This record gives sequence, C-alpha cells and structure tokens, in this order.
Amino acid sequence: MRELIRKLTGAFGPSGAEEPIRKVIRAEIEPLADEIRVDPLGSLIARKQCGDGKRILLDAHMDEIGVMVTYVDEKGFARFTRIGGVYTLNHVGGRVAFADGTVGVIGIEGKRKDPNKVPKFEQLYLDVGATSRDDCPVGVGDPAVFVRPFETQGTRLISKAMDDRIGCAVLIETLRRLEQTDHDVHFVFAVQEEVGMRGAHTVTYGIDPDMAIAVDVTTTGDTPEARPMAVELGKGPAIKIKDAGMIAHPAVRDLMIQQAKKAEIPYQLEVLERGTTDAAAMQLVRAGVPSGCLSVPCRYVHTPSEMVDEQDVENSVQLLLEVLQAA
Ligand code: CO
Ligand code: ZN
Repeated sequence: MRELIRKLTGAFGPSGAEEPIRKVIRAEIEPLADEIRVDPLGSLIARKQCGDGKRILLDAHMDEIGVMVTYVDEKGFARFTRIGGVYTLNHVGGRVAFADGTVGVIGIEGKRKDPNKVPKFEQLYLDVGATSRDDCPVGVGDPAVFVRPFETQGTRLISKAMDDRIGCAVLIETLRRLEQTDHDVHFVFAVQEEVGMRGAHTVTYGIDPDMAIAVDVTTTGDTPEARPMAVELGKGPAIKIKDAGMIAHPAVRDLMIQQAKKAEIPYQLEVLERGTTDAAAMQLVRAGVPSGCLSVPCRYVHTPSEMVDEQDVENSVQLLLEVLQAA
C-alpha cells in the first residue's frame, strides 16, 4: 500500500480544488467498481453492489488543508488566507505549491516587536520569486498546498495530507479486496471536509444510506506532554466514541468493536476533544443516518509532516472488510 499512499499524499487537492486528486483516485478505482460517478459538488463515488441488503456509505475526504492568495503587493509578495485549520507555528520557513507547480516560500515579516513571540498569521507572506505584481505567477484566489516529501521510517509513514489521503487509501484498498457482501456499498471520496464537511453532506443526501462510516485521522496522546488521550500510534485503528462534532451511533460503534474482537484485530477507543469528521455531517442528513467513524491514529495532524503507522492502516482495511461482512 506504500506506493498508493505516496501517490495519494503527493497529489494536489486543497478544499474546493480537488480535481487533480480526484483524477488520481479515479484511475485507481476505475477497474474495481461497478459504477463510478461524481456528485454535483465534486465528490467521487464508487459503487460496488454485491447484493440488495443495506445501502452502506464508506467515506474519506480527498481534500487537504492549504492556503489561498488574497493580495499581491507591488513587489510581488503574496498575502494569503487559510483553507481549513492552518496554524502559524507549523508553517514558517515551509513551502507551498500551486496547481501549476509554482512553489512559494512562507516568509515572515521582519519587523516584529518580540521575535520570540508566536507571530500572527497575518504576518506571513509567500515569496514565489517574483519581482513585481506584474510578473507574479500567482494571483488572488489561487489555492496552494503545503509541500514536504513522503518518507518512511520503519513502519512509520510521514507526509503532508495524510489527513485524509490515508483514509482514501484505506477505502481504495478495501474496495480492491472486497469480494463478497450482501450489501450495496458506496465508497465516497468527499470534497471540502476541511472547510466544514460540505461534500459529505450532499453526497449522503444523494445516497440516502442505511449506515455511514467515515474513515479519517485522529490525534494521539503518545507524544511529549501531549494532552491526555487514550490513542497511540501503532496500537490499532481507533473506533470513535465521541468527538467535538458527533457522538457515534451505538449500533455502528458496537458493530466495529464486535468485529474487531471477533477477528482479533487490535483496536482502540477514541474520545477526541477537539475536531470532528465527515461523520458529524453524515449523521444529520434527511431523517438521520446511523453513523460512525474509524480513525487512523496520526501524529502532527495539520502540519506538513503527519505521521501514521503502516500497521494501523492495514488493520483499518481488515476491520472494514469484517464490518462489511457482518453488517
Ligand atoms: Co483535517
Ligand atoms: Zn480529516
């Protein structure tokens, strides 16, 4: 799965500009699905209809956090706003890439009262090598993503955009290995999660599923002075109980727990105090959809060096396959 993860994390796809990543995923799933379509907001849906049982929706968001140019000054330096949860401390000295490959260095204003204080986000700018507004290759409204190479260190995988390309990888691999189920399974690669779970909302309305599961990353409590949290890297996928946006439906949560126990797949229980996933949007569509979330533990979420453990990824695929058998 490493090559797939490298390909997915390397692709361009900030919220609202998912076309490049959608192409990459589409090429992967084309030979595997019975039917593929794109919904009006841009989410990609692969359907595998094995039987007439339940309509099951499996979701991972394909968009990633990034920035968008708001203003270019007369010297060609660009100011920018956030696409999703972007924090100053994670990005000074880093780089961004635009859809056409233009690279920008994230610089910081020299005149600061106290250089040891965390600067304001507004003090950052992009240097794309321009000398004036006229020769600046980027303009107002252009989105960019953070760049950092995909690396492996033992079983740890490190990259930008693990959130949530790792979920996309889990879904693709599950689709690849799914041989038999009684159900009508919809694999959804949703747009615009990072700006408010917008793609998941419309896609769920369209599919009208009996059950929905989001696959996304969650933070861990296993780094120095981390906020206490019972999730560790490499200890198995985390079955969500609650996060800041949803409480998992007991039936979906318990189905995952039972199948993990039955198949002896390691798992952890997750209570996440900050942040949420597409499951929060999916469960509130129409008259309500029983929804849950399977999380891949991830360190340094929303930095350009998000780290997951390969074994957790593999076990997430195994667990989803068990869940699709037992649902
Ligand atoms: Co995120
Ligand atoms: Zn995410």
